[in-house]
Amino acid sequence: MAQVIVENVYKSYSQSQRERTNPSQSVDDGRAETANFSGKSQQVSVLRDINFTVKDGEFLVLVGPSGCGKSTLLRLLAGLETLTGGNIKISDRLVNDLPPKARDIAMVFQNYALYPHLNIYDNIAFGLRRTNKFEQKNDAEAGIQTVLTDVLTAATRNLPRGMRYMSAKEKSIRDRVRYVASLLQIEPLLYRLPKELSGGQKQRVALGRAIARNPQVFLMDEPLSNLDAKLRTQTRAQIVKLQRQLKTTTIYVTHDQTEAMTMGDRIAVMNNGKIQQIASPLEIYNRPANRFVAEFIGSPPMNFLSVEIVGNNKLVHQHFELDLPPVWSSSLQSIQSKSLTLGIRPQYLSLTSPGKSSIQIEVDLVEALGNETYVFAHLAADRNATLTVSLPSDKPITVGDMLWLKVNIDKIHLFTIDDGQAIAF
Ligand SMILES: Nc1ncnc2c1ncn2[C@@H]1O[C@H](COP(=O)(O)OP(=O)(O)OP(=O)(O)O)[C@@H](O)[C@H]1O
Ligand SMILES: [Mg+2]
Repeated sequence: MAQVIVENVYKSYSQSQRERTNPSQSVDDGRAETANFSGKSQQVSVLRDINFTVKDGEFLVLVGPSGCGKSTLLRLLAGLETLTGGNIKISDRLVNDLPPKARDIAMVFQNYALYPHLNIYDNIAFGLRRTNKFEQKNDAEAGIQTVLTDVLTAATRNLPRGMRYMSAKEKSIRDRVRYVASLLQIEPLLYRLPKELSGGQKQRVALGRAIARNPQVFLMDEPLSNLDAKLRTQTRAQIVKLQRQLKTTTIYVTHDQTEAMTMGDRIAVMNNGKIQQIASPLEIYNRPANRFVAEFIGSPPMNFLSVEIVGNNKLVHQHFELDLPPVWSSSLQSIQSKSLTLGIRPQYLSLTSPGKSSIQIEVDLVEALGNETYVFAHLAADRNATLTVSLPSDKPITVGDMLWLKVNIDKIHLFTIDDGQAIAF
C-alpha cells in the first residue's frame, strides 16, 4: 500500500507528437485542442497545475466531463505518458522517469484488454509470471532449476491438468489465482476463453488480473462503462467492498456522478484540465466550490437564476424576492458585484401559494419516476429561464400547469457572475 502524491503536474501534447516540454510553453487557454496554422509545432495543454495527495488505502474518484483530462492523468500515474511538468510520487518514491513495470501499480481499463487466446486462469496468471514477486528466491540453484523446470513443464504439458509439473513459483501463482478467483466468484470460469464470458464476467476477470498482482496502487479507468445498468450497480458495490477488504490505494476514473458519489472516500472534480474541487462526496454536494461543480454533481442538476443583492439580506429577481438568513450578511458585505447567480437544487423547491417570494412556473415536461416526479418548467414571466423541480409523486401534474414554487432558503447557493466561484458563509 502507498500514498500517491501529485505535485504541480502539467501535460501538453504537441500537435504532431508527444514530447517533454516546459509547462510555460503550454497554451493556457482552457481549450482542449488548438489549431495550428502557422506550421510551427504548437502545444495543446491538457492538464494544468494538478496537485493532490491520495492517502494510503484511500479510494479517490476522479470525475469530470468527457475530454477534461481524466485518462491522461491516470496514464501519467501509470507511466504510460511522460510528464510535461511536475512530480509524481508513489510511496515517497519519485516515479517521474520510472517505466510502468517499476511503479508497482495495476491499471484496469474500460475495454478489459484480456488476451483472447489465453483462458481466464492464464489471463490472471500472465502478469504474475512476468514478475519475480512470486519467485522462491534461491540464486545459486536458479540456473539449474530453470532448465529442469522447463524440461519438466514441457514433458508434462499434455498430461491432464492435475498431473502436470508445477514449479514452486507456478504453485504460488496457482494459489494466488485461486484466491483472487474466489474473491471475485469466478472460479467456475477459470478454464474458459474470454469470448465465452459475458461483459460483466470479463470485467471481473480484468479486476482479478489487477488484484492478483497485489500492487501498491490500483488505477481504474471507467471500468464499468461497458456494463448494463444492473450489472454496473452490482460490480460497483463489489469494487467498493473489495477495496475496503484489500485496503489498496485506488484512483478510479468515471464521468458518472452517481459512481463518484457512491464509491469514493473523496472525489476530485475535474474540468478543462484542472481540478475544480477535491473533497468528500457530501462536502462536494453540499458545499460545491464553484458553479461547475454545483452543476456537475447532483441529478437532476442544480438550477441557476440571476439575482441582485439589495442591502445584505435580500435577493431580488425580476419576478420574486427572497429574504436571506443572517448567516449570509457578513460574506455578502465583502462582495463587490451586486449581481450574483442563485443556485437551488430541484428537491429544494416545493409547491406553495402565490406570494412575493414565490416563483410562478409553467410546466413543459413531466417525468414520473414512481417515488418522485421531475417537473421541467420555465418561469411564467420569462420563457428563457428554466427550472427543474423534484416533487413528491402523489400530486398529479400535467404539461401546461401553472404552479407556484417556494425556495428552501436554507439550501440556496450563491455564485459570482464573473468566475462562478461559490460565496461561502
Ligand atoms: N495523444 C494525444 N495527443 C493529443 N491530444 C490528446 C492525446 N490524448 C488525449 N488528448 C486530448 O487530451 C484531452 C483529454 O483527454 P482524456 O483522454 O484525458 O480525456 P478524458 O477526461 O479521459 O475523457 P473521456 O471521459 O472521454 O474518456 C482531450 O481533449 C484529448 O483530445
Ligand atoms: Mg477517458
